Amino acid sequence: MTAIATLGSHCSLQVLKGAKDEGLKTILVCEKKREKLYRRFPFIDELIIVDSFKEVLDAKTQKILEQSNAVLIPHGTLIAQMSSEEIESIKTPVFGNKWILRWESDRNMKEQLMREATLPMPKPIATPKDIEKLVIVKRQGAAGGKGYFMAANEDDYNAKRNQLISEGILSKDETLYIQEYAAGVLAYLQFFYSPLTGELEFFGADQRHESDIEGLGRIPAEQQLKSTKVPSFNVIGNSPLVLRESLLDEVYTMGENFVEAAKRIVAPGMNGPFCIEGVYDENAKFTSFEFSARIVAGSNIYMDGSPYYSLLFNENMSMGKRIAREIKIATEKNQLDKITT
Ligand SMILES: Nc1ncnc2c1ncn2[C@@H]1O[C@H](COP(=O)(O)OP(=O)(O)O)[C@@H](O)[C@H]1O
Ligand SMILES: [Mg+2]
Repeated sequence: MTAIATLGSHCSLQVLKGAKDEGLKTILVCEKKREKLYRRFPFIDELIIVDSFKEVLDAKTQKILEQSNAVLIPHGTLIAQMSSEEIESIKTPVFGNKWILRWESDRNMKEQLMREATLPMPKPIATPKDIEKLVIVKRQGAAGGKGYFMAANEDDYNAKRNQLISEGILSKDETLYIQEYAAGVLAYLQFFYSPLTGELEFFGADQRHESDIEGLGRIPAEQQLKSTKVPSFNVIGNSPLVLRESLLDEVYTMGENFVEAAKRIVAPGMNGPFCIEGVYDENAKFTSFEFSARIVAGSNIYMDGSPYYSLLFNENMSMGKRIAREIKIATEKNQLDKITT
């Protein structure tokens, strides 16, 4: 029997519940400090208690996972806490394409893949002195919006960067990525691509609630102007979004272009869940500021199934369950190598 393993954070509950519903064994790599939380959920068969998630790289942990025939489901926490080299060195089969996670972590590689996929992107700004319009400044990896800031020009950039360095939020030698700010309705488009069927599925869309940028809108301008705090984009939670039906065709096209681009430049391609993140402007034109090449936590809002999956499946289907279904089918057909790396 195959087991599903993941790190205890991000979307692990959804992933393991989905696996359990598909009749697979479930394993959680769990930090000691969170053991009490995760013991509350009876669908978790086994906890591997660690001091730090990096222990997933240790021979000892990998041996336990191997003995259970585990497939590791990567998510944002894996990317945030490990380097690309470390992720690529994992011996346990990783669901999807572990090589593409480097293209998610490195902002310049990310931009290259998005360009290959012909996704409309906000203009990247090479150096602070080139800032002419409002920009957003981001860190590498899936930092979750912490320490990101907006700047209107070079002086503004320097002042805010220095402030965040003095507050210990940014480090001095960190390479920051600058991109024009895109205003509009945020939409995080979640997909699943199955190399077994060759089909792209649109799962759903979510919105992120990010503090404290979101809280700013609740404060009158007078107080905003007096504040010296640099607002961050730290994600706190997600809520569902359904799109105008007329937008769906383009959504599929963008997803398909992304899958095709990934096939060309990051073998074996964009297998499994991914997310295209961006903004719809006043003309309903989408601009994508980034992608995630694995399950996003925004899928947690659809643990009982999403509106769009209820059109494709006559059962409740979460993203976690969809992943487990793929693994189950691949195991039965002896094709696990097609969906893991
Ligand atoms: N170009 C942009 N224009 C407007 N908002 C942006 C832009 N890029 C990022 N954001 C905001 O910052 C958040 C975090 O940026 P993102 O590129 O998604 O980084 P992360 O990898 O940390 O998720 C987004 O969810 C969005 O709210
Ligand atoms: Mg993001």
